[in-house]
Amino acid sequence: MSFKKRNFINLSELNKKDIIAILDRAKELKKKRNANKSAKTLKNINLAMIFEKPSTRTRVSFELAIKELGGESVILDESTTHLARGETIEDTARVLDRYCQIFLIRTTNHNKLLLYNQNAKAPIINGLSNLSHPCQILSDIMSFEEKRGSIYKKKITWMGDLNNVLYSWAEASRIFKFSLFVAHPKVVKLNKSLQILDKECKHITFTQDADIAAKDSDCLITDTWFSMGSKKDKLLEKHFLPYQINKNTLKAAKKNVVFMHCLPAKRGKEVTKDIIDDKKVSIVWDEAENRLHVQKAILEWCLKKI
Ligand code: CP
Ligand code: NVA
Repeated sequence: MSFKKRNFINLSELNKKDIIAILDRAKELKKKRNANKSAKTLKNINLAMIFEKPSTRTRVSFELAIKELGGESVILDESTTHLARGETIEDTARVLDRYCQIFLIRTTNHNKLLLYNQNAKAPIINGLSNLSHPCQILSDIMSFEEKRGSIYKKKITWMGDLNNVLYSWAEASRIFKFSLFVAHPKVVKLNKSLQILDKECKHITFTQDADIAAKDSDCLITDTWFSMGSKKDKLLEKHFLPYQINKNTLKAAKKNVVFMHCLPAKRGKEVTKDIIDDKKVSIVWDEAENRLHVQKAILEWCLKKI
């Protein structure tokens, strides 16, 4: 067994073999849970979760995941800890390392994940940063494949903002080799990390043409136009409007297209109510549920149980 710490910070830092092992284990754990069978693989493990931003799904799914695997969790709202009064991340990491065997961090600054990593023996899970949201994308791929089979060579369409969730989708396109079409307003520019992926990865196409992106798509995805921490801007909202997922987008896509959204969603903004609430098309509740199964598998992988 390797002594190297297993972090889950970005998908590109994992081997494809490990990602497949996590997804396979998540499917197995889902079956077990549905059959009321338990898997107490993480007894005596304490998970520390630090949130600098709000969360419903990530928080609840990780809290239940560790509990159902026999471990415990401690949830820290950053603003109520000494971090908010200037205690350093270095010291906080060293202290938490004496209590907990694994950390999950949701942060406004991706570099903080790296700082926690440098100062703790515990593996680090990225529970969303300004750069990426890898836990979400594994759950999304699991949800897509449950409905439509292998994602390999499928056409996946992203509409709207160029954000953290998209970044992890872009990394996944290189690993799983699907075509990722990204339609976005011209005024929203690619950040440096996306520019690099765009250059290096032949599977990603950025376009301003929403019709080209939606045509014959197997999967339509969007996310809020204004991520946590970014200011809502009425003018920008106008630029985003042509990238709303609605009846017309659906018409252009394949007949059996699925709609995905990591949630929380703003109905009438990035997606219309009829699409997100259409049980035949929308798989958003499966995505949310699968977070639980995937988080369990991520915890087990980080702790070398798989
Ligand atoms: N999708 C997601 O990460 O949701 P939360 O912000 O509720 O955790
Ligand atoms: N892009 C969104 C995802 C929320 C889960 C945000 O960062 O707010």
